[in-house]
Amino acid sequence: MHKVAVQKTGATAYDWVEYFYQNAREPVLPWEDATRLSGAERLVVIASIQQFQLGESASGARMLERARQFSRASGDLGLLAALKLFLREEQRHSRILARFLEVENAPCLRKHWVHSAFRWIRGAAGLELCLKVLATAEVLARPYYAALGDATGSPLLKSICNRIFDEEGAHLRFQAFALSRLQQRHSPLARTLGKACHVALLSCTAALVWMEHQSVFRAAGRTFSRFWKETWQEFQALYQAALVFNCPRTPRI
Ligand SMILES: [Fe+2]
Ligand SMILES: [Fe+2]
Repeated sequence: MHKVAVQKTGATAYDWVEYFYQNAREPVLPWEDATRLSGAERLVVIASIQQFQLGESASGARMLERARQFSRASGDLGLLAALKLFLREEQRHSRILARFLEVENAPCLRKHWVHSAFRWIRGAAGLELCLKVLATAEVLARPYYAALGDATGSPLLKSICNRIFDEEGAHLRFQAFALSRLQQRHSPLARTLGKACHVALLSCTAALVWMEHQSVFRAAGRTFSRFWKETWQEFQALYQAALVFNCPRTPRI
């Protein structure tokens, strides 16, 4: 479960619409497994899962409004359709985590300051910054779910983490595709500056994720330097995939 998200690429927004439709069936997970988290495991993972459950639940209404404007201006209606299906898949992650918390008799959070802060940034940002904030969350989600799966003995939680880890990999490729569509308008210098700002955002967010969720990373045997290395690999893969999408001869899924 530790490979970087790369390889297959969707050439058009409609390839992504098709991918999200094909992946929309409810995943088969071992909900009937009777294993429950131990007391020590609960202390390590529950508060952390509660935060991610809330984070995955975003409706993306304001981002969709901006995407609608972009689609109208560019004529790329497929991008809007793909973004809607992408958000639906994120909300499914949230529902799966909520169901897991229910199985473990733990409540879902209604509010958390980290979630509120990112919601505020997305609300104030244009479409491109919105997508970069979302891509930052995907980049960090992959090392997180890999660690969460390794931190528990629960077959159910391990299966959930495996599934979300794989889907976040596809989301990263989708984000690379969406970003490439927006970045085509920029000069090479503007793209370089934009990437530098994205690195700054990633660094601050990674430090925050480590502080908030270090119990999970430590229980999985991760040091901060390993967490950062995995995060950086995902980030580099995102930009490499965006470069491929910018090429005129992009391969199909
Ligand atoms: Fe997700
Ligand atoms: Fe995602």
